[in-house]
Amino acid sequence: MNICVLGGTGFVGTELVTRLVRQGHWVRVPTRSPGRAQHLAVLSTVEVVTANVHDPRTLGQLLGGMDAVINLIGILNPSGGATFQSVHADLAAKLVAAAHLTKVRRLLQMSAMGSDRERGPSRYLRSKGEAEEHVRAAAAHLDFTIFRPSVIFGPRDSLTNRFAALLRLGGGFLPLARSQSRFAPVYVGDVAEAFVRTLDDRRSFGETYELCGPEILTLEQLVRMTAAVARLPCHILRLPAAIGLLQAALLGLLPGKPLSLDNFRSLSVDSVCTQDGLARLGILPRHMMAVLPFYLGPFIAPAELDADRRTHDQ
Ligand SMILES: NC(=O)c1ccc[n+]([C@@H]2O[C@H](COP(=O)([O-])OP(=O)(O)OC[C@H]3O[C@@H](n4cnc5c(N)ncnc54)[C@H](OP(=O)(O)O)[C@@H]3O)[C@@H](O)[C@H]2O)c1
Repeated sequence: MNICVLGGTGFVGTELVTRLVRQGHWVRVPTRSPGRAQHLAVLSTVEVVTANVHDPRTLGQLLGGMDAVINLIGILNPSGGATFQSVHADLAAKLVAAAHLTKVRRLLQMSAMGSDRERGPSRYLRSKGEAEEHVRAAAAHLDFTIFRPSVIFGPRDSLTNRFAALLRLGGGFLPLARSQSRFAPVYVGDVAEAFVRTLDDRRSFGETYELCGPEILTLEQLVRMTAAVARLPCHILRLPAAIGLLQAALLGLLPGKPLSLDNFRSLSVDSVCTQDGLARLGILPRHMMAVLPFYLGPFIAPAELDADRRTHDQ
């Protein structure tokens, strides 16, 4: 198939595009900055295009000749003029319209667990919910499938890698807001596999799949697991809600926004599945402990490898 993957340069996108290429598909990946796509440009059946996907005309051109479009574009915080409304909701509406015009019938839409236009506690979740509504409203001319993952882990994630970095920075001390929020972290390879399996499967048309890993963890347990694998000291200071709110307000002012008020609000609802989308697709989800040691290893490696080497050399 010819597939256009919006957001193909990101964490999930890289895993998905690589798999699509391995399956023999031809993939077009628009990006704002081609430097972000160098690792994909080397793949033989990937075309990287520098483009502004928010421009309806450009979007129409990108969809020309495509059999399917996958939308992975998302932000955790507004920046540089990009808002939740423009990046999630408005883009979904434009994409649906462009697909209609160019007669592309197949759309795979990445959403997030807890997305709800009305009741979502954060702008992130409300705008993701609105995007879902735009997609569902186009059912007459669109064979869509929506995915709602919990937090996603894997090499290059901004979840476990960030906590490992923060623990290193703070010498193991971490003030943690919403420490008892619950998640079912899902492996990026399992998420990508769900997209690949549904791509041309008619049974998935019009369906929504929640994607969760096999274990439910609190945020605190997730951090402790990360620390254990990376062999970092871990002293968590559980912040009461009011202090957590203050922390989010302050961190939201820093460059890169390690945590924002909107992120804090998203954490007020558990990110766990009400139905097992991976099981419906015949995918056995990977445990965190089966994956983390492979990419958090470098945190352990230098000192220990040296010690190992010295032992072997003797
Ligand atoms: N990671 C998670 O734990 C998680 C959990 C639930 C749902 N999701 C959803 O899954 C999707 C992928 O997440 P990810 O972790 O792979 O994100 P990511 O690594 O941050 O990648 C984001 C992608 O979106 C594009 N993008 C960002 N801002 C944009 C803008 N203003 N205009 C156009 N393109 C823009 C980027 O493209 P360029 O920079 O190349 O232009 C990049 O390819 C998102 O929709 C996210 O909400 C993620």
